[in-house]
Amino acid sequence: LFSYDGIVYPAALSSPETLEALKSFEARSNDVILAGYPKTGTNWLEEMVREIESTDAKYTEEEMKERINAEKELRMFPRLEFGDPGVFEILLLVRNPKDTAVSYYHFYNNMPLLPSFATWDEYFAAFMSGKLAWGSYFDHLMEWNRHFDHERMMMISYEELKENPVLGMKKIAAFFGFSLSEEEFSRIAKKTSFQAMKEKSKETHGKFGDILFRKGVVGSWRDLFSEAQNEEMDQKFEECIGGTILAMKIKYDVYCKTRK
Ligand code: A3P
Repeated sequence: LFSYDGIVYPAALSSPETLEALKSFEARSNDVILAGYPKTGTNWLEEMVREIESTDAKYTEEEMKERINAEKELRMFPRLEFGDPGVFEILLLVRNPKDTAVSYYHFYNNMPLLPSFATWDEYFAAFMSGKLAWGSYFDHLMEWNRHFDHERMMMISYEELKENPVLGMKKIAAFFGFSLSEEEFSRIAKKTSFQAMKEKSKETHGKFGDILFRKGVVGSWRDLFSEAQNEEMDQKFEECIGGTILAMKIKYDVYCKTRK
């Protein structure tokens, strides 16, 4: 791990030079940014958006191969590039903080590039004080909340994608201006279901597949949170983003308040 501006990052995935270069980085007007804190379902969203885009574009087999080969040459995490010129769009993914914390705990303890925690309690304290790789989830939420009414930004939650993936994808497609048929949406929903992505994960993510596709459910925080930790997070959430539109969209009361 290395530290940059008070936040730690795994050296295998980032470098101080890259973060420094971001200061003068200029996005193109037709860039699309998918933004998400670790473990909010970023790999899932990326796959859905890729599928929506490539289905709408109706690429030939040959064009798809060319694209895959071009991405391989980049030797970095492939990212999407599409959109109408003159439109700069951000799709923000959020997940309820309790499940995000639990998912990140398992990730921390299973990923060789991150140090393990001896106990859940020790990890929980680090999550609450933002002493984890990529910083504090609460800071991340507070920062994005400031940009919430930007007309070129859309927010989608992990929970709404779980509840109704087709509806979630329709919102994403409308935001980016893609048009797909009902059959195409249901085909993509099947292809990007947790089960389907987990089964394919050896092929798509190699040995990290089992770590990335862990449980894929809403509510697994109930197995780990103590009553005191529960209250501590409820209070912190309220202090940080209580009463905001972002908080309403996250539906904290629905997903984080009931024990059953
Ligand atoms: P869990 O650890 O709770 O299972 P990220 O991709 O940002 O690292 O997020 C990982 C989380 O998203 C993991 O949560 C993972 O299981 C879940 N996930 C990945 N693919 C998914 C899918 N197709 N459907 C639902 N959840 C998925």
